[in-house]
Amino acid sequence: MSLNEILTRAPVVPVIVIEDLEHAVPLARSLIAGGLPVLEITLRTPVAMEAIKMIIGEVPEAIVGVGTVTHPDQLLECKQVGAQFAVSPGLTPALIDCSRDIDIPFLPGVFTPSEAMQARDLGFKTLKLFPAAQAGGVSMLKAMNGPLPDIKFCPTGGIGPTSLLEYLKLPNVLCVGGSWVAPKQSMHNGSWQQITQLSTEAVMTAKNL
Ligand code: 3PG
Repeated sequence: MSLNEILTRAPVVPVIVIEDLEHAVPLARSLIAGGLPVLEITLRTPVAMEAIKMIIGEVPEAIVGVGTVTHPDQLLECKQVGAQFAVSPGLTPALIDCSRDIDIPFLPGVFTPSEAMQARDLGFKTLKLFPAAQAGGVSMLKAMNGPLPDIKFCPTGGIGPTSLLEYLKLPNVLCVGGSWVAPKQSMHNGSWQQITQLSTEAVMTAKNL
């Protein structure tokens, strides 16, 4: 599946931090039950890669991406474990080259028009705006669409249920990323139904487009 096919499967890509390996499979199933099958599992905890492997092995409906990729070695590992895409908070020549060499759909992060233009020069026209709210949010994306209408974004960072729709309405936004659908506390409490509910609400909000 191409990056754009992946990012148009669902309106929200949950940005996931897994601290307890036992949370991995029920979390993935809860998000999918609410209509969010595209998952970004961040490499921010010691169990992250193991969690990714478990979800890939046990939840075949999940479209599993690896997040917080900052080094080519991590990209190689993503490919080895069978992840379908990878996401970075930024863009480096080493990551760009490696993603090409190993042929994995890669979503690099940018924060400014110059970075977006550099990414486009390197062949990447679908980008993560990160951190989106701090970069200027909806008004920043509107302003970028004037001179750079061929660049599409998955804005991530500081987006929640109340701002979701405003972002999704923009012509240069394919989907948004966010952690609000997978709150830490709900995972610790085993409140999987709550996570499904938050996901369902996000999907319902997106239906108002
Ligand atoms: C992150 O860095 O954790 C992601 O950008 C998610 O941001 P959020 O927690 O503001 O949704």
